[in-house]
Amino acid sequence: MPDFQQIFGQPPQTEASAPGRVNLLGEHTDYNDGFVLPTAIPQRTTVQLSLSNDSQHHFYSQELDQKVSISEKHPTTEGFASYILGCIRVLETAGYTIPPLNLYVNSSVPMGSGLSSSAALEVATLRGLRKLLNLNIDDIQIAQFGQQAEIQYAGVQCGIMDQMASSLADTNSMLFLDTRTLERRVLPFPAGAEILAIDSGVPRTLAGSGYNQRRAECEEAAKLLKVKALRDIADPQAVEILPEPLRRRARHVVTENNRVLEVLQGVSAIRFGELMNASHASLRDDYEVSVPALDTLVAMLQETPGVFGARLTGAGFGGACVALVEEGKADAIASNILTRYENTGNKGHILVPEIP
Ligand code: GLA
Repeated sequence: MPDFQQIFGQPPQTEASAPGRVNLLGEHTDYNDGFVLPTAIPQRTTVQLSLSNDSQHHFYSQELDQKVSISEKHPTTEGFASYILGCIRVLETAGYTIPPLNLYVNSSVPMGSGLSSSAALEVATLRGLRKLLNLNIDDIQIAQFGQQAEIQYAGVQCGIMDQMASSLADTNSMLFLDTRTLERRVLPFPAGAEILAIDSGVPRTLAGSGYNQRRAECEEAAKLLKVKALRDIADPQAVEILPEPLRRRARHVVTENNRVLEVLQGVSAIRFGELMNASHASLRDDYEVSVPALDTLVAMLQETPGVFGARLTGAGFGGACVALVEEGKADAIASNILTRYENTGNKGHILVPEIP
């Protein structure tokens, strides 16, 4: 693959990177002002940058082998470039001046699996711009600008979890985040356990429209319950007065927030696994964001010895699942499951631990 010099005819002036994330618990809670518990994954997105010699922005993606130039005449774009341009536009709206740039992306974060390749690209881009232009912005602002870029320029009404995880989490711990106050706590993984993430091989086709629809349903439910957001309800009984499907949507959010808060009290790997299993059932039955292939994969994981618990992770509608397994057993469990999963006519692959 061509490098920066070959694409842009000059060496890069700086570079920055950011990881993808896997969410362990607290799904579809962030846009309800609720609680989440992601961790960073080893796969990262790296951007290299320099000032461009002309009046245009030039972006290159190594994975797609695609170069995109943005001029005054064609000020918009799509695909990978829209996330980068979105970050630039959000900074400009906040009053920063961004000169024409060359920007080269390469990434080991899988795209379309629900591990936040877009947040990794946004956070890496914003970190790169901070470095190149000496911008006075902190890691939380980077997450907030990244989220704005995603909402305004990629069209997903997402919460703040992915960008906060990419900007602040590491791979050795879990990041508890209160998405209303942005209060954070770094928690150790449950003792004796490690993370396994597997891609179901089913692309997240409905993710955009289904996601925005769920968000609208939650806002409607909060309105009917006369609270600012569903985060303000702690008792699952309180949602029983809602009409369907709002009742089930709200019940997922309320019970999911309670599951995350239970972890905050300190739980064993066994209990953590039970909470993950309950989360999957809730996402499948109440929130209706699972698909049959994910249910199959999760069920296979849940019945395998050495697995504490498993659930879909990310927005759902396809993509990946995550399991908490006995330390040192992730690889063996994954290869066993993947063979069985293939017999059902699907092809999955292991995402975490990263295969070198
Ligand atoms: C996507 C969004 C996040 C979050 C999850 C679901 O990853 O970007 O903000 O809502 O879905 O938990």
